[in-house]
Amino acid sequence: MKLLHIDSSVLGPHSVSRQVSAAIVDRLKQAAPSLQVVYRDLSQAPLAHLSGSHLAAAQGAPAPAELGPDLAASAAALDEFLAADIVVIGAPMYNFTIPSQLKAWIDRILVAGKTFSYGANGPQGLAGGKRVILAISRGGYYGAGSPAASLEHLETYLRGVLAFMGITNPEFIIADGIQVGPDHREKALAGALQAATSLQAA
Ligand SMILES: Cc1cc2nc3c(=O)[nH]c(=O)nc-3n(C[C@H](O)[C@H](O)[C@H](O)COP(=O)(O)O)c2cc1C
Repeated sequence: MKLLHIDSSVLGPHSVSRQVSAAIVDRLKQAAPSLQVVYRDLSQAPLAHLSGSHLAAAQGAPAPAELGPDLAASAAALDEFLAADIVVIGAPMYNFTIPSQLKAWIDRILVAGKTFSYGANGPQGLAGGKRVILAISRGGYYGAGSPAASLEHLETYLRGVLAFMGITNPEFIIADGIQVGPDHREKALAGALQAATSLQAA
């Protein structure tokens, strides 16, 4: 069984989402030592933003030579995702949504004919067999009815994108209020790490 572990925080060892995503992977690996883990750090090794040349190449146009390594990186990112039975994603909130590094990765895996298709009945997800677990961290609070609720485009966006690919039951471990104060941060991190240890085994 294969697990793809993705991190996207730029805050290195200070990152909450990285600590939680690592705890999730540790928990699953302890429960199933034969799990094969592939790690991709989108902050250390970011994928480029899509360009017109990428889109032309995807339509079958000859790709300029300088795009070769990037197209190979793109194919590798998609292959990793398609091969994974379990995907663990560390996703902090930056400016009310996902980091642009994570968006650049999503741009490489949302590929028609691979992870979704359009048919007579509209869009159809093609990646539905995967278990996806997300470690999300937010500086504030965005619960229903809260003043900032309408600015929540992290969890809602990820749920939407995953559902579009057929992944309708993602599991979320959430650390909220990280920037509210040290007590809030400590409590949220401890709660998320505890939740990671209680995850259902792979
Ligand atoms: C560039 C940047 C933008 C941020 N924007 C928001 C935001 O819009 N809303 C929010 O609640 N927290 C925001 N935060 C706080 C982070 O969501 C919070 O610190 C979280 O723990 C980051 O995850 P990480 O610790 O894994 O990096 C922002 C942090 C950074 C560095």
